[in-house]
Amino acid sequence: MIVYFNGQFSELDDVRVSPFDRGFLYADGIYEVIRTYYGRLFRYADHLERFKASLEAIKINYAETDLLESNIYKLFELNKFENPNISVYIQVTRGVSYPRRHYFPTGNVSPTVFISASTIENDKHVITNGIKAILEEDTRWTRCNIKSISLLPAILANQHAVEEGAGEAIMIRDGYLMEGSHTNFWGVKNGELWTAPLSNLILPGVTRTVIIEVCRKAGIPVIEQAIDKNSLDDFDEFFVTGTTTEVKPVTQIGNKIIGRGKPGELPVKFMKLILNMLKAKPGFKNFT
Ligand code: PDD
Repeated sequence: MIVYFNGQFSELDDVRVSPFDRGFLYADGIYEVIRTYYGRLFRYADHLERFKASLEAIKINYAETDLLESNIYKLFELNKFENPNISVYIQVTRGVSYPRRHYFPTGNVSPTVFISASTIENDKHVITNGIKAILEEDTRWTRCNIKSISLLPAILANQHAVEEGAGEAIMIRDGYLMEGSHTNFWGVKNGELWTAPLSNLILPGVTRTVIIEVCRKAGIPVIEQAIDKNSLDDFDEFFVTGTTTEVKPVTQIGNKIIGRGKPGELPVKFMKLILNMLKAKPGFKNFT
């Protein structure tokens, strides 16, 4: 596997990270996950905007964002991917500095930049079986809009989901379902789509933006309001969205079976609309 690390393309095994990297010591960094469809980065501009916003929020000076896109495509070439579905991971930390001090390094410390790409094996796009989700107290910080690599509360919640045989943990803050541990969360009630509003308490998902756009075109009303944990019975269906998750129906929340345990129609419909939208665009490099 060839990866990008601090300006070089190299074999993964040749990359060395200092234990004094602030990402390693403090999780002092941010990340981004982008995927391709038909070999092309999906909604690159939105991901870049969020990436820059995260960098700015934690005051990391990384000036080379203009080279990012070409470096990613170079990585695809070097890895000789044949599968057109690729997931890209980008991480930037505040760099290497010692002795260990909480405050930012003084002097000229370059950020540590890492990009990896791997093919997504399950490229069926539409999942027909729903997943189970558990409800988990949201113990994350109050700046969840930053895509920070400090993910411990999300990791613990997701691990709990796995231990419960579930596919996702939905984070509850003050009685409201905010988002999944690594996805945005949606409910459908009387033909209206509900999801938590953008704020410092959720990640502004790129897939979330796409779903809202698709709904506008299809005339489906979107209510940007978080769902009360006591109102789950009022909803007809639920689903989660994310870059690699795509649109996944949720057919069970805790012990509650939703829609007789069968996925609703909207997740499949949304995925089809998204894929059709992509196919309609000319100039997509097809790897197959
Ligand atoms: N997760 N909410 C959280 C907390 C997330 O971590 C993610 C993405 C999303 C969905 O965002 P998007 O649609 O832009 O992927 C929502 C990434 C993919 C991850 O951590 O792997």
